[in-house]
Amino acid sequence: MSDWHIGVIGGSGLYEPGALEDAQEIPIESPFGEPSGPVTTGTISGVKFTFIARHGAGHMLSPGHVNYRANIDVLKRAGVTDVVAISAIGSLKEELEPGHFVAVDQLIDRTAGRERSFFGEGIVAHVPLADPVCARLSGLAETAARKAGATIHKGGTYVAIEGPQFSTRAESHLYRQWGADVIGMTAMPEARLAREAELPYALVGMVTDYDCWRDPEGDVDVTDILKVMGANADKARAMLAQLAAALPKKRKASPIDTILDTSIITPRDKWS
Ligand code: ADE
Repeated sequence: MSDWHIGVIGGSGLYEPGALEDAQEIPIESPFGEPSGPVTTGTISGVKFTFIARHGAGHMLSPGHVNYRANIDVLKRAGVTDVVAISAIGSLKEELEPGHFVAVDQLIDRTAGRERSFFGEGIVAHVPLADPVCARLSGLAETAARKAGATIHKGGTYVAIEGPQFSTRAESHLYRQWGADVIGMTAMPEARLAREAELPYALVGMVTDYDCWRDPEGDVDVTDILKVMGANADKARAMLAQLAAALPKKRKASPIDTILDTSIITPRDKWS
């Protein structure tokens, strides 16, 4: 049993001064390059939290330019035990309405050209990823969101596209046929890398729009997305406060904490 330390990767609007007690920016370097922005650590109800804004402090990085490896690496180095990712998503299902939250539990990766592994040069590892989201952490986040007043759907398949453009209508229809429920541009390779870093990962998506499948002539509009994001930021912060208050006093070990023990193929004497 250990203490919880929750890493939060979210939009730039999510973290605001005062959200954390004893907040301080911590200087952490990563051999994987520059993270998206400052790493801020502090506590909520006595639980340690560390925040990083995925797109940078002033939303300066597009999804394909985020250094996902550095972001996960600095959270790991900060001592984070679990990661809650919060992001805007488009809806591929009628019942997932703009303004609702979704506790995503499955991912389809359609991104291209992003660094998606910490391994490959010198050490070869194949980590299991059948269930990319930690059910325990996702369940805790889901309950917390509900207590914070959000309408949250349990489970959902997220298709991660490369962007930065939104999908074509044909793609949007295709993803629906594949069984995807929501669409976004950032959860991959974030979830892959969290798993390689032995960090349980939960993804709370905030539905900002119906992707273009729904209106035969309409397009996804960023101004609509920003409006919904703004309206949801308070709920997302309240969810984190509820999560902190509801976490069991001590954290039981998760199998993800030691997933590399059974994933590295290169013999230990070749790299340690
Ligand atoms: N993020 C928010 N809405 C989105 C959409 N419709 N497609 C991809 N990413 C999104």
